[in-house]
Amino acid sequence: MLKDTSCGELQKKHVGNVVNLAGWVHRRRDHGGIIFVDLRDRSGLVQVVFNPELSPNSIQLATDLRNEWVVKVKGEVALRPPESANPDMPTGAVEVLAQEIEILNQSPTPPFYINEDSEVDETLRLKYRYLDLRRPKMKDILVLRHNVVKFIRDFLHEKGFLEIETPILIKSTPEGARDFLVPSRLQPGSFYALPQSPQQLKQLLMVAGVEKYFQIARCFRDEDMRADRQPEFTQLDLEMSFVEMDDVLALTEELYTSLVETVTPGKVLLKPFPRLTYDESMARYATDKPDLRFGMEMSDVTDIALQTDFRVFHSVAGAGGVVKGFVAPGLAEYSNSMLRELEQFARLRGAKGLSHIRIGTAHQLSELTDDDLQFGQGLKMPPQLVKDLAQRMGASPGDLILLLAGTNQEIAIPLSSLRNEIGGRLGLADPDKLSFAFVVDFPMFEWNQDQSRWDSSHHPFTSPKDSSFADLLPPPGVTRAPGELDLSKPEFATVKSKAYDLVCNGNELASGSIRVHQRQLQESIFEVLGYTQPQVEDRFGHLLEALEYGAPPHGGIAPGIDRLVAILADADSIRDVIAFPKNQSGADLLFGAPSPVEEDQLKELHLKLTE
Ligand code: AMO
Repeated sequence: MLKDTSCGELQKKHVGNVVNLAGWVHRRRDHGGIIFVDLRDRSGLVQVVFNPELSPNSIQLATDLRNEWVVKVKGEVALRPPESANPDMPTGAVEVLAQEIEILNQSPTPPFYINEDSEVDETLRLKYRYLDLRRPKMKDILVLRHNVVKFIRDFLHEKGFLEIETPILIKSTPEGARDFLVPSRLQPGSFYALPQSPQQLKQLLMVAGVEKYFQIARCFRDEDMRADRQPEFTQLDLEMSFVEMDDVLALTEELYTSLVETVTPGKVLLKPFPRLTYDESMARYATDKPDLRFGMEMSDVTDIALQTDFRVFHSVAGAGGVVKGFVAPGLAEYSNSMLRELEQFARLRGAKGLSHIRIGTAHQLSELTDDDLQFGQGLKMPPQLVKDLAQRMGASPGDLILLLAGTNQEIAIPLSSLRNEIGGRLGLADPDKLSFAFVVDFPMFEWNQDQSRWDSSHHPFTSPKDSSFADLLPPPGVTRAPGELDLSKPEFATVKSKAYDLVCNGNELASGSIRVHQRQLQESIFEVLGYTQPQVEDRFGHLLEALEYGAPPHGGIAPGIDRLVAILADADSIRDVIAFPKNQSGADLLFGAPSPVEEDQLKELHLKLTE
C-alpha cells in the first residue's frame, strides 16, 4: 500500500508516530511561507503542515499543490498548539508535520467546489458524478447505504433466509409499468424484458421449497420519473412460505426497527408501527401513504356545506361528490395573497378551487361574530354554522379551515398534498422523526376508466382477502365460457386483498401481499383483469403450471432500498442515494446513455429504425 494510515483516524494517541498518508488536497493555505494542506481520503480529513525549516525539500512541491491533486505524504503526528486546535474536525487536535511529499497525480480546477457544501447544479453533478461523490456529504451517503444493505443481509441470514439471484434477462413480470425490452440476436424478432421486480421468480422459489428467500434485487421500470422514482432501482425482495400477513408484517417491523436503531441511532422511531386500513387512511388523510408525524386529519363536512348558499358545494354534492377539508392551526393570519398561492398549489395538483375560512381571535367559538370571519370567494356562513363546522373539524379561533369539493378521487391528491405542504411549513415534519405505519386491506381491483377494465391495485398474484371475491364467481366446478363472467358488477370494487404497504413520513417504502397459491383462483383473477385464455397461457402459463405442483401458501414484501436510504439520509431525492442515477429524463449524463448505436449492431439484432 502507498499508505499505512487513514487521514480521518488520527487522534492524540498517535502523536509521535511517523505515518504515510495518501489522498486528495482538500484545501491549501499559505501562511507566510508555511503551507497548510487539509488532506482528504475516504475516512476524512487531517491537516498537514509543510514548514520550510522541517522539510526544506518538500516546500516547493507543497507550494505548487492545487485542490484535488493526489499526493502521498510522510510525516510525524504532532499535537496542534492549543490556539489552532479545531474542535469541529474529528482530527482537529492533531496535525501531521510533513517530511516528504510525492505528487501522484494532478487535477484541473474541478467544475464545482468539493470542499464546500454549496448548492451545485444537478446536471453538472451528474456529469461529473465521480467528483460529486468525493464530496463528504455524498461519501457519507455511500457509507450509509452500505451499512443499510449489510445490516439487512446479516439480519435475514440470522432469520434463516437464503440470498438467491434471479435473472435480469427474462419475460415480462408486470408491476404496472412499461417494460424495458432487450432484442435477442439468437432468436430474431424475439425480446427479453427486464424484470419490473422478481415477483414471479420468488414465487417459483417458494414452489421450489426454498421457504425463505431474499435478494437485493435490481428492478427496471419504464415509467415517468419523479423524485422518488428511477427507471432502475433496488428492492430488498423477500418471500416466505407458510405465512400469514401478520408474520410478514412482524418480520418487516423487526427489520426496520432494529435497522434504524443500529444504523441511524439519531432518528426517533415511533413504535409499535400503527396499522390503518386503506379505507381509514383515505378517510383520515386522503392518501394511502399518510405522513403521521402530525395530525391535521380530514373531515367530511358535506352536510354542513349544504347548509350554505355556495353553489359549488351544492352542484358537487348533487353529482355525488363531497366537501372535505382540514384545519391549518394558527394560519388565520395568512394574507389574501398567501391564500391565492395556496389555491394555485391545489389547482396544480388537480383541484378545481380551494375554499377557506379564517377565524379571528377576538372571540371564543361560542361567541363568534361576522366580524371574526373571513371567507374565500363565493363562500359565506353565519357564525353559528362556522361554530358547528369548527367543532366538527376541531378548529379554534386563529385557525384556517381549508375545504375542497369534488369526488373523493378528484380531491384526494390536492387535499393530501396541501396537508403535507402545511405540515412542512408549520415545521411539523421533523426529519429526525420516523413515523412508520402499515396500511392494509387494499382494494383488490381498480376500475381503469380509459381502458374500461379492471386493474390489480397491487399485482395480479395478490390473494383476495375473504370470500367476497369467490361470491362474485360462479360456484366452484361450474365451467364457464370465455367472456361469460359479468365484469360490469360494481361489487368488484369492494373486494379487499391481502396486500399491505409500509409507509413512513408520507412515502411508500414497501409493498407486499399474501399470494394466490392455487391455479384455479389465479386463473379467475386473470379473467377479471381481462386477459384472454391465449394471453394467460403465453404470459403466465409457466406460473399456473407451477402452482399445480404443490405450491405452498406464501407471501412476501419488497422494501425499496433507495427510498429507505433517502429517508435515513434526509435526501430530497433518491438520485442522491444512488451512486450513478439517471436524471429526470431517464438519461445517464456521465456516459451519455441512452445513445444511438452502430448500424452493424442493429443489423445483428435484426432491427431497423423507422425514423
Ligand atoms: P411495488 O411495485 O409496490 O411492489 O414496489 C415495491 C417498492 O419498491 C419501491 N419502488 C421504487 N423505488 C424507486 N423507483 C421506482 N420506480 C420504484 N418503484 C417501486 C418502492 C415500493 O414500495 N413485487 C412487488 C412486491 C411484492 O409484492 O412483494 C413490488 O415490486 O419502495
